[in-house]
Amino acid sequence: MTEPVILVRKPALDFEQPIERFYFAGNPIKTHIFNALNLLFPDGERFFVKSVHDHEKDVHDPALLRDIKAFAGQEGQHAHQHERFFAVLEQQGYRFGRLLEQFRGLALWSRKLPRWLRLSITAGAEHYTATMAALLLEHDMLEGCDPTLRDLILWHAVEEIEHKHVAYDVLVKVYRFSYPLRIVGFIAASAVIAAYTAIGLRLLLRQDGRARRLTRAQFVDARRALGEGKELSFRRALRRSLARYFVPGFHPNHKDDRALLATFVPQIAQLSGSGA
Ligand SMILES: [Fe+2]
Ligand SMILES: [Fe+2]
Repeated sequence: MTEPVILVRKPALDFEQPIERFYFAGNPIKTHIFNALNLLFPDGERFFVKSVHDHEKDVHDPALLRDIKAFAGQEGQHAHQHERFFAVLEQQGYRFGRLLEQFRGLALWSRKLPRWLRLSITAGAEHYTATMAALLLEHDMLEGCDPTLRDLILWHAVEEIEHKHVAYDVLVKVYRFSYPLRIVGFIAASAVIAAYTAIGLRLLLRQDGRARRLTRAQFVDARRALGEGKELSFRRALRRSLARYFVPGFHPNHKDDRALLATFVPQIAQLSGSGA
């Protein structure tokens, strides 16, 4: 299978534009799940890049070395753009400094972990980002999203799909018996992603409740909307696709996303400044 080219883009995203508070189709829970993930991305992505870089000297395949460089370039841009979005959340009245500090503390502490574990956590987390990215696009989940946020999420999703094999390939090339390593990393990544997304979601919803930006009835409606239709089929597909990581012969490229990329790469190429 020809692997997609990993292209580092620098999209010009206009966060000065007014952005609706509940920008994800007016649904506060869906919006805050993405906001919570957004808060994790910058430090998480810097951790991923360092974990892969720490294995670069053990990689001798020129194609993989080229992909590592592009992966680092893409993740660096993601961290930068998601950090820019923090200012929008602050302007909207959200306070999350302590959560960021805690997560940054965890990321710094995790540098003491053995490098195989950091790499396997990275490969596991990349399975999450690539799986969520593909399903968001396949299930048309960006419908009704604020245009600037749609650009941000679409651009990030496409690039997660483009580089989905990189950390995994480094892991399996550097470590001969990689199956138990990757399972340990995937479980650790799952625990961190689930815990911090839940903490962030609760924090932001609580702030909306206190400020009377969200009534109990709106919250109940939002939760009901997430339990039906395409939201429900997205969640079911997400569970199924994530579980494939446990199959012994798994490889990220077994899921062929080339048609998806052919549809969406032209859309992000139109973001001015891209392709730089
Ligand atoms: Fe990323
Ligand atoms: Fe990634």
